[in-house]
Amino acid sequence: MPNEQGNKTIWITGASSGLGLALTKHYLLMGNRVIASARSEGELSQLAKLYPDELSFLAFDVTDTSQIDATRTALESMTDPLHMAILNAGTCEYFDVDAPDWALFERVNQVNYLGMVNSLQVCLPKLKQTANAHLVGVSSQAVQAPFIRSEAYGASKAAVRYLLHSLRLDLAPDDVAVSCILPGFVDTPLTQRNDFDMPFLMAPEQAAHRIANAIEKRVFEYAFPKRLSALLALARLAPSGWFKFNARKRPSEG
Ligand SMILES: NC(=O)c1ccc[n+]([C@@H]2O[C@H](COP(=O)([O-])OP(=O)(O)OC[C@H]3O[C@@H](n4cnc5c(N)ncnc54)[C@H](OP(=O)(O)O)[C@@H]3O)[C@@H](O)[C@H]2O)c1
Repeated sequence: MPNEQGNKTIWITGASSGLGLALTKHYLLMGNRVIASARSEGELSQLAKLYPDELSFLAFDVTDTSQIDATRTALESMTDPLHMAILNAGTCEYFDVDAPDWALFERVNQVNYLGMVNSLQVCLPKLKQTANAHLVGVSSQAVQAPFIRSEAYGASKAAVRYLLHSLRLDLAPDDVAVSCILPGFVDTPLTQRNDFDMPFLMAPEQAAHRIANAIEKRVFEYAFPKRLSALLALARLAPSGWFKFNARKRPSEG
């Protein structure tokens, strides 16, 4: 099994913020080369001063299909081989059934699900040419049980999970391992907008460390933290209890 803790070239999407930025820092610290993508460079420009030879920025809007060919050409000119791709770019918008913004389903899916499909078109050819390559995609613990207002986000992440499960079967002959990551609540700009309590919230550095350990072991699916996984397993075992506890109530129902 190859050592993913050093000397590898890794493409990370959604690398300018939150989890992707923490993963970028982690892999740089471990002695890898990272090609970091997002729409904007953000904090990556400061990080590049510390790692001028190891960190490169490759602008890519995962929703823009017109950028796919140029981004693939650029990625391939920046590295051969490509040992790993971490497809992490994502967004979250909550649905309000009383004031529905139906367009948000399209917005969320464009980034989370179709954005991953577009990213695959960028990285898969090179991954398939690399011995022992590894494809990692970021889904969410939200797929483990229904959450209120998560109709669009949860469905997009369930689609991501299925996509990765299926790809794992199809990529077996190419020797490309596939891992699916299901994070719980991580303290990032994405969750800092949330207006509810987030159980077992963890720092992005801690989450990145756990994800990297799971990636190193090439586990197919890694859901964390375990306490949240256990709670959601209970929800699946007792769906009516989960419903009673979580079902939205009208203000008049208290
Ligand atoms: N935080 C959590 O609790 C949590 C839990 C479960 C799963 N996740 C998943 O983890 C991933 C990272 O989330 P995060 O919490 O780190 O969020 P974040 O801090 O908001 O970071 C999102 C990243 O995605 C990039 N991005 C967004 N739209 C993009 C687009 N159209 N094209 C290219 N890049 C785009 C952003 O960069 P630009 O805006 O510059 O493009 C940014 O780098 C997401 O897939 C999220 O669903 C997060």
